Amino acid sequence: MSPTRTSDVLVVGGGIIGLVTAWRAAQRGLATALVDPEPGGGAAQVAAGMLAAVTELHYGEQTLLGLNLASARRYPDFAAELTELTGHDLGYRRCGTLAVALDADDRAHLRELHALQQQSGLDSQWLTGRECRRLEPMLAPGVRGGLRVDGDHQIDPRRLAAALVTACERAGVVVHRAWAERLTVVRDRATGVVTADGTELGAGQVVLAAGSLSGRLAGVPGDVLPPVRPVKGQVVRLTMPGHPAHSTPFLSRTVRAVVRGSHVYLVPRESGELVVGATSEEMGWDTTVTAGGVYELLRDAHELVPGITELPLTETRAGLRPGSPDNAPLLGPTALEGLVLATGHYRNGVLLTPVTGDALAHVLTTGELPEEARPFTPRRFAAAALTEQPA
Ligand code: GLY
Repeated sequence: MSPTRTSDVLVVGGGIIGLVTAWRAAQRGLATALVDPEPGGGAAQVAAGMLAAVTELHYGEQTLLGLNLASARRYPDFAAELTELTGHDLGYRRCGTLAVALDADDRAHLRELHALQQQSGLDSQWLTGRECRRLEPMLAPGVRGGLRVDGDHQIDPRRLAAALVTACERAGVVVHRAWAERLTVVRDRATGVVTADGTELGAGQVVLAAGSLSGRLAGVPGDVLPPVRPVKGQVVRLTMPGHPAHSTPFLSRTVRAVVRGSHVYLVPRESGELVVGATSEEMGWDTTVTAGGVYELLRDAHELVPGITELPLTETRAGLRPGSPDNAPLLGPTALEGLVLATGHYRNGVLLTPVTGDALAHVLTTGELPEEARPFTPRRFAAAALTEQPA
């Protein structure tokens, strides 16, 4: 039976990664469709939206750093293009980030991060506790020092998702509001998907961009199924006092710390929203907001900024990061002809949105990953599996 509807490209997943892929593909003249029951939903509805290539640097992730920086550099033009096209304000703020230490252990950890940043040629500045408090007067008096990173910005992921939905509509992307249930494979080639109501959607190329669900699409052969797992993050939203033009804002930049081994960050938006995140839990598909999760976030955030206890608590939410075995995304063609991946973005989905859109547009029009995205080929895991075979 031939599929009901066909396109050049069918994107499975309407989170920000699927949306940016569909938008960029359509801009390149490809007839593009997207399938998702709720386009613009997913992890972007929970994420804080830090664009934190420098403050979220980790040992062993230098290759990923290159991609993160490439995407961060694209953000100003990307945000301007999207706003001009859609009229949406994305809440893009070049406000910078301050990572602080509360005790001697945190300070040692932050000193090491600073050294790694310097070895990697990144711009960050060590501040004393007093200098930190001069920048952010709401910080706890006990803050022992910090790293000022003016290049780590923020965006509002909910606004970004809404703008990408509009951009897709304007670019002529056909949106199917349905669950993709099964990949169709004909003669060793991906040819489309079947949706939950039995509709067959055909396509020349299928992009699997379903976030943490990417490893669950039926019909995908085991050797190309992305090794992506859900990593739960709980987040709370508070409301800061309105600040008249001449008074000091509650916080003027993102503030973050590692408290008792857990990362906590406070992301202040111009709208008055203050996002406090995030837990990192290997709990499978569970998205329950727990008393313990909220307690730990507020306890740690309170140690950094005691004044938060006065703020209205407006929302609690949990989402699922798409974790991959090396914490880096899977981008590009697979060993199955016609199946392309854009998934596994883990902690960096919002940051990596611009570079992912460009890389996938390149893949879909040329069949090749651009140079900067080549280390992120899904084939790296197939190669690793082969070398792990017993002799
Ligand atoms: N990048 C922030 C987080 O994953 O919580």
